[in-house]
Amino acid sequence: MPNPLEKKHIVLGVTGSIACYKSVDLASKLTQNGALVDVLMTPGAVKFVSPLTFSSITHRPVIADIFSPESELGINHVAVAERASVVIVAPATANTIAKLAHGLADDPITTTILATQAPVIVAPAMDAHMYENAATQENVAALQSRGYVFVGPATGRLASGLIGLGRMLETPDLLGCIKMVLSRGGDLSGRKIVVSAGGTQEPIDPVRVLTNHSTGKMGYAVAEAARDRGAEVSLVTTPTALEDPFGVNVINVRTALEMRSVLLHQCSGADALIMAAAVADWRPAKAADHKLKKGEAETWSIELVKNPDILSEIVGEGLVKVGFAAESEDLLANARAKLLSKGLHLIAANDITAPDSGFGTDTNRVTLLDREGRATELPLLTKYEVGHEILDRVAKVLA
Ligand SMILES: Cc1cc2nc3c(=O)[nH]c(=O)nc-3n(C[C@H](O)[C@H](O)[C@H](O)COP(=O)(O)O)c2cc1C
Repeated sequence: MPNPLEKKHIVLGVTGSIACYKSVDLASKLTQNGALVDVLMTPGAVKFVSPLTFSSITHRPVIADIFSPESELGINHVAVAERASVVIVAPATANTIAKLAHGLADDPITTTILATQAPVIVAPAMDAHMYENAATQENVAALQSRGYVFVGPATGRLASGLIGLGRMLETPDLLGCIKMVLSRGGDLSGRKIVVSAGGTQEPIDPVRVLTNHSTGKMGYAVAEAARDRGAEVSLVTTPTALEDPFGVNVINVRTALEMRSVLLHQCSGADALIMAAAVADWRPAKAADHKLKKGEAETWSIELVKNPDILSEIVGEGLVKVGFAAESEDLLANARAKLLSKGLHLIAANDITAPDSGFGTDTNRVTLLDREGRATELPLLTKYEVGHEILDRVAKVLA
C-alpha cells in the first residue's frame, strides 16, 4: 500500500475565499500523487481563481455550474457524488458551511455533498469574527455531530491583516487529513503503534550536547505509513527539522532517559513499538549547570555512563517490537545479534555507508531480518515505502 492516493477519486470543493490560491497547490499535489481530482467550484470561487487553472492541473473538467449542459452534473447531477472516495471542501466559507449544515443544494458542492456516501472533510477559511460567530460555531458543531471531519482553521495572519483564528491549513496537513480519512478500515485500524525518531541529545552543559546524525526522517515516514493504514500513532521524537505529521500524536523529548520514560508510558496497551530513533549508548555522567570554559588545557575528557537499553527493557504482552541496526561493518551479523539480544520480532539492517541510504536521505536500502531466520533484502525504496514493508510484517504478526 505504498501510495494511498493512487487512483482515488478525490472531490475538491472550492468556495469563495481568498484562500482559493492554496487549493491550486492542493489540487496539484493530489494529482502528482496519482489521485483523480474532480474540482467543483461555487460562483464565488470562480471570482477568485479561474476554472481553467484547476483543469490545467488536474487534466479533468471542472464543474462550476450545475445547470451547464456541458457539465457532468448537467447530465447526471449526482455522478460525482457517487464515485467520490472522499470529498474535501478547501477553502470552506462561512456561507458554504451554513448551507451544508442546513442541507441546501444550490451549487455543485452542496448538491454533491448532500448526495454522497463518501466521507466529507471541511477546511474552513475566514475572518476570525466570522468563524467565532455563534451561527458559524453552531453550524460547525452540527456538521461535526454528523461525522464531517473539520481540519483547522489555524491561528495566523488573515487576509484582513488581522492575526486570528480562521486561516486555512496548508497543503501538507490537508493531504495528511485526506490520507487519514481514506485509511479508515485499513489493516492497522484499531491498533496503537508507537514509533520513535531522531537522535537523542545528551547534555554536556547548557549549550553543548552529545548527539548523532539521525534526522528523524525514517521514524517520521514509519509514523505516516502507520497512520495511512488506519493505526492510532504516537511518535516520540527528539528535535528535528521535520513538520509534525497530521493526525499523529507527536511527543517531543531530548535525552535517552526522557525517551525511555515516555516510551514506557506510551507502550502500555500498544500493539507495536517501532524504534527508529538513534538512542545514544552513553551520556555524560554529569551535565554541568553552567557553560564549561575552554581554559588552558589541551585535552578534555568527559566521563560517560551507559544509557539504558530501551528496546530490551520494554516488554509488553503481545507487543510487537521492531528495531533498526544502523551499521558500518558486519551489518547482518550485528543486526541478527541485536534482534536476538533485544527480543525483537523484526530488525531493519541499514548499511549507513551505502549511497542514498541511512542518515538524512529520503531513501533507504535495508535488509529485514525476522525471528524465523528469514532475511529479505529490499531494493532502494523511499523511507515511506520502507515503513510500509515493515508494517506489512507487523500487521501479519498482529493478525
Ligand atoms: C475579497 C473577498 C474575500 C473573501 N474571503 C472570504 C473568506 O475567506 N471566507 C468566507 O467565509 N467568506 C469570504 N468572503 C465572502 C464570501 O465570498 C461570500 O460570503 C460568498 O457569498 C461565499 O459564497 P460561496 O460560499 O458560495 O463561495 C470573501 C469575499 C471577498 C469579496
